[in-house]
Amino acid sequence: AAGEVVERPGSVVKELMENSIDAGATKITVSIEDGGRKLISVADNGRGMDGEDLASALESHTTSKIKTSQDLRGISTLGFRGEALASIASVAQIRAVSKTKDSPGANCIEIDCGDKGSVSPCSADCGTTIQVRDIFYKLPARRKFLKTANTEMGHITEHFTRIALGSHFAGSKQVLDMILYHNGRELYQLSGKQDVRQRIAELFSPEISENLIATESNEKGMHIFALLGRPDISRTNNKFQYVFLNGRFIRDKFISHAIKEAYRGSLEPNRFPVVFLFIQ
Ligand SMILES: Nc1ncnc2c1ncn2[C@@H]1O[C@H](COP(=O)(O)OP(=O)(O)OP(=O)(O)O)[C@@H](O)[C@H]1O
Ligand SMILES: [Mg+2]
Repeated sequence: AAGEVVERPGSVVKELMENSIDAGATKITVSIEDGGRKLISVADNGRGMDGEDLASALESHTTSKIKTSQDLRGISTLGFRGEALASIASVAQIRAVSKTKDSPGANCIEIDCGDKGSVSPCSADCGTTIQVRDIFYKLPARRKFLKTANTEMGHITEHFTRIALGSHFAGSKQVLDMILYHNGRELYQLSGKQDVRQRIAELFSPEISENLIATESNEKGMHIFALLGRPDISRTNNKFQYVFLNGRFIRDKFISHAIKEAYRGSLEPNRFPVVFLFIQ
């Protein structure tokens, strides 16, 4: 269905940020207005697109990330379906601006709920900026489903956090500065130079960061790095359990269960440990 990838503003932020990472960006700036109802903007300094690529990026089933069926076996990018941008463009007003290193100027394109304008020249630095305005404005039933700005912002922050941690540890190949604004106010400014503990201190709290025990091991071809919360910072729910597989946030019942078992005896049965687990 149209807009399937797009559940709420948070999912738009996730898809756009993942595209920026796939484009090799070292800086991503996310600016949100009114919990994402009014504006979701993601700007990166990645490799950008030329005019032709810009026009086709917004078509359904266009991806530059998979060229042969062999590629499906070794997906190293976050996106591969070629669906996200087209989905978002089918339920909102989009303006995309992009410039590659080699092209003399930038190009932009506007799309209004699937109604595509033509590519025209504009001025911008290398990289890509995608602005998504008035999400679901032609779909009142879905617009009504949006929660308060605070609640939507909570979802956006959660996606931002997952990407900030997942991308940060993925072999630390990609140094990534990340900034999040809401209504012009800076919520997070994360430096690509900080280590994972400093990042956790900024995203959660210094108290959590200081009470994590680091451990790592290599098993069965996997590398596992874990930051395990001391029992005193345990929580009443399992929301502070972050598991990443190759930089991608995952939830897995088997792993949740293993974490619970590992803490058995050191926590009350109704408490949940804080855990950050990075599996490569
Ligand atoms: N920020 C960006 N910088 C450079 N190229 C981009 C950017 N965002 C999108 N693209 C290009 O547009 C294409 C379509 O993006 P889209 O997110 O729709 O699909 P995808 O990332 O390939 O797969 P998925 O649907 O799983 O996210 C990408 O394959 C990429 O070539
Ligand atoms: Mg994508």
